Amino acid sequence: MAFRLMFCCGKGLDRKEQGKKQATWRVFSLKELHSATNNFNYDNKLGEGGFGSVYWGQLWDGSQIAVKRLKVWSNKADMEFAVEVEILARVRHKNLLSLRGYCAEGQERLIVYDYMPNLSLLSHLHGQHSAECQLDWNRRMNIAIGSAEGIVYLHHRATPHIIHRDIKASNVLLDSEFQAQVADFGFAKLIPDGATHVTTRVKGTLGYLAPEYAMLGKASESCDVYSFGILLLELASGKKPLEKLSSTVKRAITDWALPVACEGKFSELVDPRLNGKYVEEELKRVVLIALICAQSRPEKRPTMLEVVELLKGESKEKFDALENDELFKSPHPADYNDGSRVDDGSDFISEEKEPIRELKEPEGDPGK
Ligand SMILES: Nc1ncnc2c1ncn2[C@@H]1O[C@H](COP(=O)(O)OP(=O)(O)OP(=O)(O)O)[C@@H](O)[C@H]1O
Ligand SMILES: [Mg+2]
Repeated sequence: MAFRLMFCCGKGLDRKEQGKKQATWRVFSLKELHSATNNFNYDNKLGEGGFGSVYWGQLWDGSQIAVKRLKVWSNKADMEFAVEVEILARVRHKNLLSLRGYCAEGQERLIVYDYMPNLSLLSHLHGQHSAECQLDWNRRMNIAIGSAEGIVYLHHRATPHIIHRDIKASNVLLDSEFQAQVADFGFAKLIPDGATHVTTRVKGTLGYLAPEYAMLGKASESCDVYSFGILLLELASGKKPLEKLSSTVKRAITDWALPVACEGKFSELVDPRLNGKYVEEELKRVVLIALICAQSRPEKRPTMLEVVELLKGESKEKFDALENDELFKSPHPADYNDGSRVDDGSDFISEEKEPIRELKEPEGDPGK
């Protein structure tokens, strides 16, 4: 199945398409972005990810932007740029960071977003804002629900559906009201209706990777559900997805949380920085949903639509069923043997790794 990558040559949408989408993006010149970011000054740098660096900038009208400057070292990176731009241009939702524009001049490939003044969830949980404790329980619940709603849009409303493939704390940005904006669709692939998964190359961040994705390269919506479960546990507990126990051993957050949850000791799982200020019922709900999402068997994970419903506490019946799930009766260590334990200190797969191919691939697999 071929998708037209509309902007890879620096061309915009035609008028008809623009009208339909009411797109609010535009093409930026390199000169304008140089001047906005003080020539990509080191002091403007917000951080660096797998595909390049992100810089803070200010446009002539005073508005603040974040510019992702891709390291263009191969045609492959060029493809990622084109994919991300096209996906972002399609997507408009209150909880998804939308594209403000792009620039493709010479060797430079840049993507322009609105600057999110409260940075990422990562910076509040484990980074420069972690000591300030700005994330009270209410904000955390809003972030959980908001980011879940953003992913629901990708999985169920966007046409064709979009698998994010890199859901993690640095990709959940926070606006001035601390509302979640899920960012970075650079890893996402468009999947056509009817396909259950695409077999593809593994990209993502250790600690968040679903086992079937890490081992078989099978990307599907349920891989995102798994990563979202890890994110939820991180949000509630303030712990990292992989905790370093010694120089060679790391423990997955689920291995720590599941036995405690099975004993019903939810208060032991909550972030101590909340000083006991949280809603018990909501904490229990978040932890159980997180664990049901981050179980090893993809077929047993809920959909993101169900996750939103559960997080909002809309259905008592469904919550009762969740509470009585066999996972919380007798935890099997195998349920959490997710293959993401590492002993090399690296949390990011920067190079593509060929997955072990399945012997039999599903019919009509577009990844072939
Ligand atoms: N629009 C934005 N506003 C504020 N901070 C941003 C914005 N976009 C990105 N950042 C921050 O800049 C840093 C680098 O982002 P980048 O997406 O390149 O890397 P990453 O999220 O750590 O990894 P990945 O490449 O897997 O997405 C991150 O800390 C991210 O939260
Ligand atoms: Mg990112």
